[in-house]
Amino acid sequence: MSLPLHAPDASDAPAQDPSPYALAPAAHEPSAGDQWWRRAVIYQIYPRSFKDSTGSGMGDLAGITAELPKIATLGVDAIWLSPFFPSPQKDAGYDVSDYRGVDPLFGTMEDAKTLISDAASFGIRIIIDIVPNHCSNEHALFTAALAAAPGSAERAMFHFADGLGEGGNTPPNNWQSLFGGSGWTRVPNPDGTPGQYYFHLFDATQPDFNWRNPAVQEEFEKTLRFWLDAGAGGFRIDVAHAMFKKEGMPDWGGAPDGTPRPGYPFADAPMFGQPELHQVFARWREICEEYPGEPVLCSEANVRPLSRLADWVAPGQMHQSFNFDFLRTLWDRDALAEVIGDSLAAFDAVDAPTTWVLSNHDVSRHATRFGYDGRAMDLGDGIGPRDAQPDTVLGRTRARAATVFMLGLPGGAYLYQGEELGLGDNTTLEDAYRQDPTFLRSNGERIGRDGCRVPIPWVHDAPACGFSPTGETWLPQPENWAGFSRDLQEQDPDSTLNLYRKALALRSELGLGLGSLAFYANPQLPEVLAIRNGDTVNVLNLSGAPVPLPEGEPLLFSAADGPALAADGLLGANSAAWLRATA
Ligand code: NOJ
Repeated sequence: MSLPLHAPDASDAPAQDPSPYALAPAAHEPSAGDQWWRRAVIYQIYPRSFKDSTGSGMGDLAGITAELPKIATLGVDAIWLSPFFPSPQKDAGYDVSDYRGVDPLFGTMEDAKTLISDAASFGIRIIIDIVPNHCSNEHALFTAALAAAPGSAERAMFHFADGLGEGGNTPPNNWQSLFGGSGWTRVPNPDGTPGQYYFHLFDATQPDFNWRNPAVQEEFEKTLRFWLDAGAGGFRIDVAHAMFKKEGMPDWGGAPDGTPRPGYPFADAPMFGQPELHQVFARWREICEEYPGEPVLCSEANVRPLSRLADWVAPGQMHQSFNFDFLRTLWDRDALAEVIGDSLAAFDAVDAPTTWVLSNHDVSRHATRFGYDGRAMDLGDGIGPRDAQPDTVLGRTRARAATVFMLGLPGGAYLYQGEELGLGDNTTLEDAYRQDPTFLRSNGERIGRDGCRVPIPWVHDAPACGFSPTGETWLPQPENWAGFSRDLQEQDPDSTLNLYRKALALRSELGLGLGSLAFYANPQLPEVLAIRNGDTVNVLNLSGAPVPLPEGEPLLFSAADGPALAADGLLGANSAAWLRATA
């Protein structure tokens, strides 16, 4: 998409106008609909690392319930809870052995119901993480499939196939696991001889379901109803793009994650984006619509380009989809402008809201990523002690600015627990502590995602910074964690926590989530991105020096430490501001 940021020639600007900013025509008009999910701010809780009420070192549901009043002060609409279901925890709970239960690690079904109802009393919905692409190899359906014969109804719930070549020693096709290595694992026959293979897009402990089998579809409809009956506010759908595999599962020469390569466009990947998905999403939407309160479906669909992702949120499909293109974007004005413009165009075309996200449990936190100049963000490949370390002050400064700018965009937004404290990753975690299967399956070549999953700090002078009453933590916290504790930030008006609170309150007051968007053309300021959303001007200075602001009355600033660096109509380096337009 061509954006109006670069005027053909700055000298074309009217001579009498000294402002370097010129408003371009609107790139996005508000939708006619004003449903809650079109502007929702959703806070992701990773239960393992939020709050441990028992002292086990593992966060739990009762810990979350106890902290609901603090979450409510942020002003979010919903909580997305990463999986808390029974699981052998080979992929931190994304290997589910019972979709309708609670792992004793995290509490009981009673705890889950209390959390849902207490959250509702704060006006917060609970969004459940459903993992339909695969389950755990300890799920009863998979153990039954292993015990059953090739060709049985039990095996038809998964992708079992005979090997190729002599003795069937070659896997059925060349598909790889996204966590590294072959996507196929061979199982023995009851008599101990080598038997069939099963497919797993992730770890060998995560067998993929066969979504062409109506029995699989029925299983998940029951699960959706189970949680909707319990009062859930909707679902985040894990790996929604991979549920169906192309008939016959043909070999694929492209990258295992579908990253386009010459001759292998994403659109041809036989394990992603199959058209049959959409009839399942339509059915799920119908089920959600049977329940009160507009439960939502949000897809984790790693689909490119954005125009194709829009099919996931077309009328009658899911309500929202994560916008990973935005999350992947570097600290670069033109790249950001392009992804914002393209996202709005793609989603507007199907009357769906765009969502914005900067951090989650699968990527380096944005306070860490933005501490590198030009670092490419390889999703899932974290930073370890042997890597170049980020500039943490720069990273946090830019992260604050990026969040303020993001919250001023029209659409929904996702926040990841701890980003409101300005947390970065633990980038010096020793290998001995790592639990991510990405690290284990790649023999340590890929550092993995543990660094962004570290238990968060609550109280600066308590054991484990208040995460756990005993001081236990399932992953070690970095030494400087106490300085980011919530209790200290509560008292500091300029803390990142208070910046998030102010930005969220203003966003709601100004109606920015349901707003419009027009870019400013500002060719003399190549590292400044400025947009107008209704009467609010939203400016991001990506440069290392102060820049002039457009005209307007300041509403909010973001900067490293302390209040705004802006003075005399200037916006500080790596900072963001919202202004009330005066013209
Ligand atoms: C996406 C989840 O966010 C990630 O944490 C998990 O490892 C994979 N899906 C597999 O379920």
